[in-house]
Amino acid sequence: MASPTLNATIVRRDEVGPGLIVLGVRPDGPTFDFLPGQYATLGLPGTHARLEDAKAEREPGLASSEKLIKRAYSIASPSTQRDSVEFYLNIVDDGAFTPRLFALPMGGRVWMSSKAVGTFTLEGVGPADDVVLIATGTGLAPFVSMIGSQGETPLGRRWVVVHGTRYIADLGYHDQLMALAASRPWLSYLPAVTRPEAPWSGQTGRVQSLFESGAIEAMTQRQVSPQTSHVYLCGNPDMITSMQALLESRGFKLHKRHDPGQLHIESYW
Ligand SMILES: Cc1cc2nc3c(=O)[nH]c(=O)nc-3n(C[C@H](O)[C@H](O)[C@H](O)COP(=O)(O)OP(=O)(O)OC[C@H]3O[C@@H](n4cnc5c(N)ncnc54)[C@H](O)[C@@H]3O)c2cc1C
Ligand SMILES: NC(=O)c1ccc[n+]([C@@H]2O[C@H](COP(=O)([O-])OP(=O)(O)OC[C@H]3O[C@@H](n4cnc5c(N)ncnc54)[C@H](OP(=O)(O)O)[C@@H]3O)[C@@H](O)[C@H]2O)c1
Repeated sequence: MASPTLNATIVRRDEVGPGLIVLGVRPDGPTFDFLPGQYATLGLPGTHARLEDAKAEREPGLASSEKLIKRAYSIASPSTQRDSVEFYLNIVDDGAFTPRLFALPMGGRVWMSSKAVGTFTLEGVGPADDVVLIATGTGLAPFVSMIGSQGETPLGRRWVVVHGTRYIADLGYHDQLMALAASRPWLSYLPAVTRPEAPWSGQTGRVQSLFESGAIEAMTQRQVSPQTSHVYLCGNPDMITSMQALLESRGFKLHKRHDPGQLHIESYW
């Protein structure tokens, strides 16, 4: 029998590439309001089955407990979407939560928090500001929400979204972002692959190299500076540490709720 704490249903499950999914989750009650960039929490009991081919889990003893294993996930859907909440996830093979979540089929039940939280939002961006969004891996999720929540006239002047992945197959939302960038003059999309598994005519290398080569500034057509831009970093913590050092050397200040700056970070682990 399903655990009574599970309060939401998987209504979409798209396999993007190996170990990468876009998930739609519909709460039993009304969908919560959220600001683009915020995250919700998903949970499953330890007793829930893991993917059959997942590695042995790092943390022993979870499988015998009904207690919910909970993890934070950035919302990828636009804030106007009311019927379900979208997430973009990668599996951690020996992880506690993702091998259980990835085992859920369409129609499967999951626990979802009743609200979204987080300060990684567009608050403070003005009409003259450029918005530079830099992600690795599934760190793209909040940016998909931020972009998808803009109308014809966005908050901010020029937007650039940079997506760094290991493989071409890991470029989730590629077609959607290509199409949006083609139809919205304010948006540029810069995918960058570090280990292309097939011929690839796009950018290669880590996101820092795109920043240092001036490729991002070529898109905004002006210098990325604290006077002109808000920069958002999301995903791999090592990427965030090194991009943060680069940006701070250019005068960027870390944004805090009570001490606003132009550098916004969301570290996934
Ligand atoms: C605010 C916030 C938002 C997040 N949003 C997303 C999201 O939109 N999509 C998403 O896939 N994940 C997201 N995460 C990470 C997510 O909360 C989990 O940590 C991740 O899914 C691993 O959970 P797990 O229990 O399977 O692994 P755990 O048993 O908790 O093991 C975690 C370890 O796995 C490794 N790891 C590899 N990839 C990841 C990854 N993507 N995230 C975290 N750890 C990783 C790290 O070494 C980490 O220490 C977010 C985290 C935070 C704090
Ligand atoms: N398709 C998936 O995304 C997927 C699927 C299944 C499982 N996983 C697991 O999830 C974990 C995360 O994998 P991931 O590929 O999503 O994320 P990742 O290891 O963070 O790699 C994503 C991108 O970030 C780059 N990167 C890594 N360190 C960086 C740094 N210090 N500065 C700048 N860029 C940096 C990587 O480049 P490099 O190539 O140079 O490292 C890669 O281009 C891994 O354990 C993986 O096995 C991922």
